[in-house]
Amino acid sequence: MTSPPAASASATAASGPTPPTPPAPRGTPLIRAEKLRVEYRGRSGGGRVRALRDVDLEILEGETLGLVGESGCGKSTLGRALLRVIEPASGTIDFLGLNITRLRGTRLRRTRADLQMVFQDPFGSLNPRRRIADIVAEPLRRARGASRAEAGPVVAELLDQVGLGAEAGRRKPHEFSGGQRQRIGIARALASSPKFVVADEAVSALDVSIQAQILNLLSDMVRERGLTMLFISHDLGVVRHIADRVAVMYLGQIIEVASRDDFFSGPAHPYSEALLSSVPSLRPGGRRERRVLEGELPDPANPPEGCLFRTRCPFAEDQCRTRMPELRTIAPGRTVRCHLPLVPGSTEKG
Ligand SMILES: Nc1ncnc2c1ncn2[C@@H]1O[C@H](COP(=O)(O)OP(=O)(O)OP(=O)(O)O)[C@@H](O)[C@H]1O
Ligand SMILES: [Mg+2]
Repeated sequence: MTSPPAASASATAASGPTPPTPPAPRGTPLIRAEKLRVEYRGRSGGGRVRALRDVDLEILEGETLGLVGESGCGKSTLGRALLRVIEPASGTIDFLGLNITRLRGTRLRRTRADLQMVFQDPFGSLNPRRRIADIVAEPLRRARGASRAEAGPVVAELLDQVGLGAEAGRRKPHEFSGGQRQRIGIARALASSPKFVVADEAVSALDVSIQAQILNLLSDMVRERGLTMLFISHDLGVVRHIADRVAVMYLGQIIEVASRDDFFSGPAHPYSEALLSSVPSLRPGGRRERRVLEGELPDPANPPEGCLFRTRCPFAEDQCRTRMPELRTIAPGRTVRCHLPLVPGSTEKG
């Protein structure tokens, strides 16, 4: 999907004698989280785990946003909260301008048709007893209320598009390889013609040789259907391949959002830099040395005061110990939650 034409700036121009500078061209948000908070009861009976801490995030129509961060930082929780699979403790989710945070019943079911998920585990996520045609048809029948006869041709075409052929519909999951099962998972996610898809570690369980095929299939589908995708992955190389923008999470917070090129050429948050530096082929500015993250990931039930990253940050100073930084815009389309962001393109402090 393309951005709306620049003509939209004229609406604001009419309101005063000096027209404001038109905003930099950007897409319209498809889905937006505002101050989204999700808490789990501690697994060991202890306190609450804040899995999302007031997450603000916009995903623009037609884009693929890559979501990265260490295990346990809240990526899956954010993906599932946006899809209304888990209930936020507070905050709002807007989808196409509609607040969907507390939708129930029929309206939730209808909205769900527009919001779908491609799962990580191609073996665990398909019911082994059902035929592929029924598995793929399920979201179409449940969320859009299609009959079996109505779903049939849609499913056949989808199985064709994902490269399996319509005849695959008569078979069962065990007859397929991991990569083929992921194609089935993609067909299922697309059956209800969603507008937004969350792919949560969708290629992580696959052999490297198969990963590229599935990534290409996903990005073709996104482009051809004008989909918007949140692509969750711990693999930065994969994210660079598929994402238009990148968002980084740390301990339940978004700490940086940037275009793919800005992010990979010069991350603004010290944590982003450490993540990139752990992958030799992705080190910004051709640096050879690895910037090792000091210390352990803090207990999410008991996070540090001030900036959540400061216990592992090589640049932390007094203000970082006392004040939590806001997520602020440092350049058009670029936000960072750091008192001392790295100058884009450089490894020195600005
Ligand atoms: N059902 C649950 N009950 C209790 N705590 C949970 C539950 N699910 C997740 N958590 C905790 O919430 C935090 C965020 O988990 P989440 O699964 O969203 O992280 P993630 O970034 O997707 O990790 P990974 O990369 O390992 O998939 C973690 O501290 C995790 O232990
Ligand atoms: Mg996860």
